[in-house]
Amino acid sequence: MSKRIIVANWKMNPTSSSEARKIFTAIKKGTSKLPELEVYVCPPFVFLPDLVKSKTTEKVALGTQDLFYENAGAYTGQVSPKMVREYKTKLAILGHSERRALGEDNVVVGKKARHVISEGMTALVCVGEGERNDEGGYYTFVRDELEAVLTGLKRTDLKKLILAYEPIWAIGKRAEEALDTKALYEMVLFIRKILIEHFGRTPAERVPILYGGSVKASNAHQFVTEGGVNGLLVGSASLNPKEFITICKETLKK
Ligand code: PGA
Repeated sequence: MSKRIIVANWKMNPTSSSEARKIFTAIKKGTSKLPELEVYVCPPFVFLPDLVKSKTTEKVALGTQDLFYENAGAYTGQVSPKMVREYKTKLAILGHSERRALGEDNVVVGKKARHVISEGMTALVCVGEGERNDEGGYYTFVRDELEAVLTGLKRTDLKKLILAYEPIWAIGKRAEEALDTKALYEMVLFIRKILIEHFGRTPAERVPILYGGSVKASNAHQFVTEGGVNGLLVGSASLNPKEFITICKETLKK
């Protein structure tokens, strides 16, 4: 697995298309010369028509923060993979904890992942526990979230799958409150083991695993070098181009 992957999750930000354009342009400019890096920017849907016009580079592709498991029909408020195709979106974040908190369950996340992959996009599926205790129940929690998605996938689907481990308690905090890298390393091994159980070693080892949860310029390097992840899912820091570009650079440092 060569390239590192950085995904920007803008969530429900910014509040105008001119601002979105400004951030996107700055990110593209700042990352254009970085080798061995894949960058995805996932803005709110409404900004896609505008951002796609600002010529995506090979380095920075557009993505979405969700997508539905049907292509059209009586589903008020939903957006389908087919609808965003003309905006050249390459990836959809699915099962983000903020969506799960609004009622999305494992079954729905599994259906969405299958559909997004069958439509030729990459499914970035988020998993992560709400809290940690000494009994290690969070491993079972993460396993259940993963099983719900993996049981429905074929080995050939794995080319279009990325997993993100995002402990909910570590999202939206200061850098010091993020997960420690030893705990991350253990969880990455656990997730990899589940992938191997399902698909065998070689295909399983090709699935990128990202970390998300208070990733900043100051801790990005540690996560990829000590945490054993293939990249990062960045929330609030991705709205600040300067910080986001530094995160990208830190990710590439040896
Ligand atoms: P954060 O968000 O970087 O602001 O913690 C990460 C996420 O929720 O994807």
